[in-house]
Amino acid sequence: MTKTYDVAVVGATGLVGETLLTLLAERNFPVGQVYALASENSFGKELECGRKTLDVEELAEFDFSKVHLAFFAVDAALAAEYVPLATQAGCTVIDNSTHYRNNVEIPLVIPAINPEALAGYKNKNIIASPGSSTIQLALALKPILNVAKLMRIQILACEAVSGAGRRAVDELAGQTASLLSGRPVESKVFEKQIAFNLLPQVGDLIEQGHTQQEMSLLKEIRRVLAQPNLPLSPTVIRAPVFFGTVLEMYFETEIQLPLTQLESVLENAKGLEVFAKHGDYPTPVVEAANHDPVYVGRIRADLTQPNGHHLWLVSDNVRGAALNSVQIAELLVQTGLK
Ligand SMILES: NC(=O)c1ccc[n+]([C@@H]2O[C@H](COP(=O)([O-])OP(=O)(O)OC[C@H]3O[C@@H](n4cnc5c(N)ncnc54)[C@H](OP(=O)(O)O)[C@@H]3O)[C@@H](O)[C@H]2O)c1
Repeated sequence: MTKTYDVAVVGATGLVGETLLTLLAERNFPVGQVYALASENSFGKELECGRKTLDVEELAEFDFSKVHLAFFAVDAALAAEYVPLATQAGCTVIDNSTHYRNNVEIPLVIPAINPEALAGYKNKNIIASPGSSTIQLALALKPILNVAKLMRIQILACEAVSGAGRRAVDELAGQTASLLSGRPVESKVFEKQIAFNLLPQVGDLIEQGHTQQEMSLLKEIRRVLAQPNLPLSPTVIRAPVFFGTVLEMYFETEIQLPLTQLESVLENAKGLEVFAKHGDYPTPVVEAANHDPVYVGRIRADLTQPNGHHLWLVSDNVRGAALNSVQIAELLVQTGLK
């Protein structure tokens, strides 16, 4: 008989939490009991996990000794408060928040990139899952790094509003409806109107005009790729798209990489799907939403730099985050989660 694992999803009513429940069922993760946890406001709501109907329970009242594994999909402050309670109760935690991503005692894992890092999880029984732009970028950079040294990388990450959670999705929907009906808009989640607009700053400014989101992306990607000096310069903006983040990436390699070789390297890479044939291109809404791969399009040589290339990378940010967490859990099971 297949061994099963009792699991809690913390933040189950949120965007990532709900997608975690969907993916656990879709990927036939060997779950026994599943507990859906959220705030007291959601107590008594019902959620689906495959054929199971779950009553949402309150996080503050939950006894983590009932589960082997907990997926955390709440903000960093709640993760800081409740993850230690979960591990003290003997449970292993996969955390989606930013809280543990820069803690050297806790592995930051993308199973397709650095599965070997998982070995360190027994220190604290916690594994951190990176942000979705990091996952998307790492999946594209790793195969290129396997064939050439990278001298320079510049990205423009256009992050979807869902990256800021369900309230942000509601704000874009509400503002769009208001503006189309000629009514004024109010901004609560974002600093300025997001509907029919673009915001050039995601997160607070922290270092010489760079934002928290940009610096986190830089730190996370260097950690996951084990490239402490990776020459990446990121700009992160917020686009009025519900689901699906786009990265326009420019990079220069030390040696000249013929376009055909680059295409073949990307075609054979884990987690990527090249979508550049016949002049077609991937978009967040039509291709990426509700799909697993990071789609790659617009693969082209730079007009001025002989070793420079451009890529257009598109992925469902919420599904990408949840998928990475479930893949970490699958790896834990393969390597002997008790
Ligand atoms: N969205 C993305 O693309 C993405 C990607 C990678 C990582 N992440 C990270 O994943 C985490 C979740 O993001 P999300 O987008 O899913 O957020 P979200 O849609 O805003 O969901 C937040 C969840 O937290 C719960 N929550 C809030 N206050 C709580 C409390 N006091 N006690 C218990 N539960 C509480 C909410 O429950 P109620 O419904 O009851 O309020 C909800 O289930 C965040 O750390 C985020 O940074 C998100």
